[in-house]
Amino acid sequence: QWTTTSIVDDQVAKIREQVGDGRAICGLSGGVDSAVAAALVQRAIGDRLTCVFVDHGLLRAGERAQVERDFVAATGVNLVTVDARQRFLDALKGVSDPEEKRKIIGREFIRVFEQAERDLKAQGDYRFLVQGTLYPDVVESGGGSGTSNIKSHHNVGGLPGDLAFDLVEPLRLLFKDEVRRVGLELGLPETIVHRQPFPGPGLGIRIIGEVTADRLDTLRAADAIAREELTAAGLDRDIWQCPVVLLADVRSVGVQGDGRTYGHPVVLRPVSSEDAMTADWTRLPYDVLERISTRITNEVADVNRVTLDVTSKPPGTIEWE
Ligand code: XMP
Repeated sequence: QWTTTSIVDDQVAKIREQVGDGRAICGLSGGVDSAVAAALVQRAIGDRLTCVFVDHGLLRAGERAQVERDFVAATGVNLVTVDARQRFLDALKGVSDPEEKRKIIGREFIRVFEQAERDLKAQGDYRFLVQGTLYPDVVESGGGSGTSNIKSHHNVGGLPGDLAFDLVEPLRLLFKDEVRRVGLELGLPETIVHRQPFPGPGLGIRIIGEVTADRLDTLRAADAIAREELTAAGLDRDIWQCPVVLLADVRSVGVQGDGRTYGHPVVLRPVSSEDAMTADWTRLPYDVLERISTRITNEVADVNRVTLDVTSKPPGTIEWE
């Protein structure tokens, strides 16, 4: 019988057999797959697993804490956080082109992650690299090495570099809904298990224009408000995701408080989807939109206009970049 418990027991036994008395590294992205893969391996080999979390500074409010505090509390895993915020800001300085940003973020991510791998290898027998590859990724890549070709330009996390590792892929036979069930079985919090998709390049591709520390702060504040209000309205499970996009190179005139302002618009991009290949814009209730708009324009300096994206995919993509 293929129950969640038997999946966990089965995978734990397989991981123990594969890893023996070796050590494993797992990159955490903050997403569901890497978290569940890590929790399974932790269950199997305990503190011979070390997780690495790269803070590239393009995260949303509270995401680093969710990994450092909630994930560690739930699993007891060894965690190394690499604070690379300044490095990414430096690398992104002056860059506005979306593809260029993606390339830079992907490249820097791999460099930082590989340095963390080297540091760990210098400390112990780290021969294994854990990846949260799911069954659909395996199928997409023709059953190959585990890192999907289609997604490889997409996923900044966990790409194998020039260091030699054996891959541990405990989710290789599972679909997303099974991964979530396994995560719950392993005691991971709902906020991690049911997290909506978030792109690897993070807020870097939600600032239209150059990425700067100030712009990131502005977008993080606006995004946090939108997420808070959607959660309060009980809408998290109804929408696929709701990117908030900062049009950093656009300014518009407004009146706030005592005077005229010349600030930036943000765009709300709520979408409904089954698989992100196609999507429809979500008809959010007007009162929720109103609360989000009022709060963002009141609470976030520099933002004086909130707009709604009513484009389906196709022709629009979900993200703006
Ligand atoms: P698009 O914008 O292509 O997005 O309609 C489809 C889904 O993929 C996510 N996305 C990414 N995920 N790295 C990722 O890991 C990326 O570079 C990336 N770009 C888009 C997006 O959030 C949506 O869920």
